[in-house]
Amino acid sequence: MCGIVGYLGNKNALGPVVDGLKALEYRGYDSAGVAYINSDSCTVIKRVGRVETIEKLVDKEKATPHLAMGHTRWATHGAPTTVNAHPHFNHDKTIMVVHNGIIENFQVIKNRLIELGYQFATETDTEVVPHLIEYHFKQSGSFEDAFEKAVSELEGAFSIVAISSLALGQLFAARLSSPLVLGVGEDEFILASDPSAIMEHTKKVIYLEDYELAIISKKGYKIRNFKRAAVVEKTAEELDFDLEHAALDDFPNFMLKEIFEAPQTIKLATLGRIRPKSGTVKLGGLVDVKDKLKEVQRLIIVACGTSYYAGLVGEYLIEELAHIPVEVQLASEFKYRFEPFSPSTAVLAISQSGETADTIAALKKVEGRNMLRLGIVNAVGSTVARMTDAGVYCHAGPERAVASTKAFIAQVCVLAEIGLHFGNGKIRDRKRFLQELDSLPKKAEQLLTQVDKIRQIAEKYTRFSNFLYIGRRYGYPCALEGALKLKEITYIHAEGYAAGEMKHGPLAMIDKNFATFAIAPDCQVLEKVYSNISEIKARGGPIVAVATEDNRQIKKLVDDVIYIPKTIEQLNPVLVAIVIQLFAYYAAIKLGKNVDRPRNLAKSVTVE
Ligand code: F6R
Repeated sequence: MCGIVGYLGNKNALGPVVDGLKALEYRGYDSAGVAYINSDSCTVIKRVGRVETIEKLVDKEKATPHLAMGHTRWATHGAPTTVNAHPHFNHDKTIMVVHNGIIENFQVIKNRLIELGYQFATETDTEVVPHLIEYHFKQSGSFEDAFEKAVSELEGAFSIVAISSLALGQLFAARLSSPLVLGVGEDEFILASDPSAIMEHTKKVIYLEDYELAIISKKGYKIRNFKRAAVVEKTAEELDFDLEHAALDDFPNFMLKEIFEAPQTIKLATLGRIRPKSGTVKLGGLVDVKDKLKEVQRLIIVACGTSYYAGLVGEYLIEELAHIPVEVQLASEFKYRFEPFSPSTAVLAISQSGETADTIAALKKVEGRNMLRLGIVNAVGSTVARMTDAGVYCHAGPERAVASTKAFIAQVCVLAEIGLHFGNGKIRDRKRFLQELDSLPKKAEQLLTQVDKIRQIAEKYTRFSNFLYIGRRYGYPCALEGALKLKEITYIHAEGYAAGEMKHGPLAMIDKNFATFAIAPDCQVLEKVYSNISEIKARGGPIVAVATEDNRQIKKLVDDVIYIPKTIEQLNPVLVAIVIQLFAYYAAIKLGKNVDRPRNLAKSVTVE
């Protein structure tokens, strides 16, 4: 979950490296560092804190190297200190390494190297790598050979970039279960954890696959498979990525910008896919597996965090629209379960980044079992997108704020489309459903005009340090997602609960200091939600609710109401999501929190 960049080319390499780190900062931001080679020696600069600290230090440097690399960290092994920040190096600072992932066998390697007299200065797993390369270099005298031998010994997940004064003019990289992309420009090469750090320089990219390493010099690149010790022939492909989407425009931060992109997100997730007049849905990404889809009798959705909650909405949608039994499993649990599968079971992975290690591990678990693997992914060309047999892109554009917002909305829209696609002809009011989906962007726009009211209500509730989010049916996953949004950006304790379960325990917590957020838009079970709300009110609990416009009755039951435009029950989650996102956002702003970069988190969770 760290971000790494490497540059070799005609420019002052520190520029692209620092800019690249800024683009990748969403992946981790507790410390950062760069290393470069000028004439024949390595220099390293690293500090606790954000990339801007490094940028200021780099600006003071007189050097204009053509070879450099950098790292922005999300700590796994070792506290976020300057010493533990990357790059890491060997004793005489001739070999510099940055790493994303976890080296699972680092302790074994470290013990061996300590016995050989190597000294370690940090608590990190990464530090074994420069020492191990040095060890192999001393044996063979070839840096290329030493790098390959060293990475072949590593277990776990890693993307590694290395430079060395023992191999001047060369950039080294290796990947296993952690993303790494090589940008091939005019007289320049740039390596990065994801294309957002590359696209400014070139749109030609090569995605390194597991067990691949790259050795890059001004003359070109060589790719090898270090498991098979064989050369791999690869040519660059064109990147489909829109730089414009990544800019902040006039918004104060990415989170608000991305929430306000909801109408556009719905349009992009449905564009060209739904035809309300004919009642048809066309998902180009599933055409190749058309026949296999007909055989699917059970669907397992695997995902993490917000994508998992979108999956729970999908469970209701797909079961209702397609009459296929659906189970949603946390990818981190799925991997370690022993459950029977039949070939008629399909797995659907949902991921915004497409790089979440647990989700990737879940897909790997079912590899080779003759099961169809599908994906709903936002990041084009990401690992999940490439691992699946077929899938549907969200097309929500890059999501920069750590808290997922527009991706959830796009995922729910795509799940609805998949439900309709699977269930061709199984529901009668298909046209009505599609008309509603088609009208959602307008409804989302209308809802966003109420932002001031949502802000006022959210600010009022920041005095509570405990929150329950409750809902039923489609409102239940929304409650889970609402609680997640609140806790991750305000750090207020919040739990999502099925409203019907309150009386089975959680009601005991309710008093005048314990707030509830009720998800109560028009639905089949609204009367039952009213009863659950009344039970809380009777115990003095303050309640804010989200309800459908024109619902006057709820005003009598709760303290505050936020209204959403009327739509069908199955699509309420899209509009409710905007409300819960704005509520958490304004509460966090009021509390002075950094909404784009909440503490302890990172955007892309590439460690298990
Ligand atoms: C919460 C959030 C995370 C992600 C989760 C999965 O706001 O962003 O819970 O949803 O880490 O990430 P993806 O969707 O990239 O697999």
